[in-house]
Amino acid sequence: MSEDLAYGIDIGGSGMKSAVVDLDSGELVTDRYRIDTPQPATPEAMAEVVVELVEHHGWTGSVGCAFPAVVKAGIVRSAANIDRSWLDVDADGVFTEALGAEVHMINDADAAGLAEVRYGAARGRTGVVMMLTFGTGIGSGLFVDGVLVPNTELGHLELDGFDAEKRAAASIRKPDGLTWSEWGERVDRYLEHVEDLFSPDLFVIGGGASKKAAKWLDDVSIDTEIVVAAKHNDAGIVGAALVAP
Ligand code: BGC
Repeated sequence: MSEDLAYGIDIGGSGMKSAVVDLDSGELVTDRYRIDTPQPATPEAMAEVVVELVEHHGWTGSVGCAFPAVVKAGIVRSAANIDRSWLDVDADGVFTEALGAEVHMINDADAAGLAEVRYGAARGRTGVVMMLTFGTGIGSGLFVDGVLVPNTELGHLELDGFDAEKRAAASIRKPDGLTWSEWGERVDRYLEHVEDLFSPDLFVIGGGASKKAAKWLDDVSIDTEIVVAAKHNDAGIVGAALVAP
C-alpha cells in the first residue's frame, strides 16, 4: 500500500462521511464512516461530528473537508442547506480548533470535481468540464482544461421561475411525488439550461443520485456528452482528501 494517505470528510445536508484516501490511486483505504448531519447544522454541532468521524478512524494528521456552501479561503459565504449561523464563519478555524489538527475546507461539488479530474471520469479531459452533484441540493464544479473555477453556484440558477435545486435536486423527487423517470426529465430540463449558458464539453454527474443513474439517465437527452462520476458518491471524500493541508 502507498504511504501517500490523506483524510477526507464530505459534509452534506443529510450525512457527514469520511475515510482515509490513498492519493496515488484515489481509492478509499478504510471503511467509509457516516454520521447524520446534526439538525440544526450549526458550526458547534458539526464540529462535534467532525471530531467523532476522525476519532473513528484514529486519524491524527491534517484533514480536508468538502462543505455544501461557498467557501472562500476557509470562510463560509453562503448557507442554502446548512444553518444560517455558518455565514461568514471561519470554518477552517472552527474545525481546526475542535480537532487540534489543521483542517481545510472546499465547496463539496468542487471537491467531487477535483476527484473526477484527477482519478475519474474527467481524467485527461481538456476543455470545459462541468461536475454537477444531485443530492440534498445541486452543486456545481467548473473546470477549464483541468483547472477549477471555484465556487460556481449553478444549482441556484433560475429554472422555470424556481431556484433550480428546488426543481431538480435528488431530495425533491419524493416530496414532489416523481418517479425516477419523471425526475430524470426535470434533470434533463436543468441540464439543457446549463448547456445553453456554458456549452460544456462534458458533464460529470455525481451526488447521491449518481448511484441510481440507471433509473433516470435514459430520460436525459442533451447533446453534450454526459457521464456518471467514476467515484459516485465517494468523489466528495476523495476530493476533500486532495485539499488536506
Ligand atoms: C449550495 C452549494 C453546494 C450544493 C451541493 C447548494 O445548495 O449552495 O454550495 O455545492 O448545494 O451541496
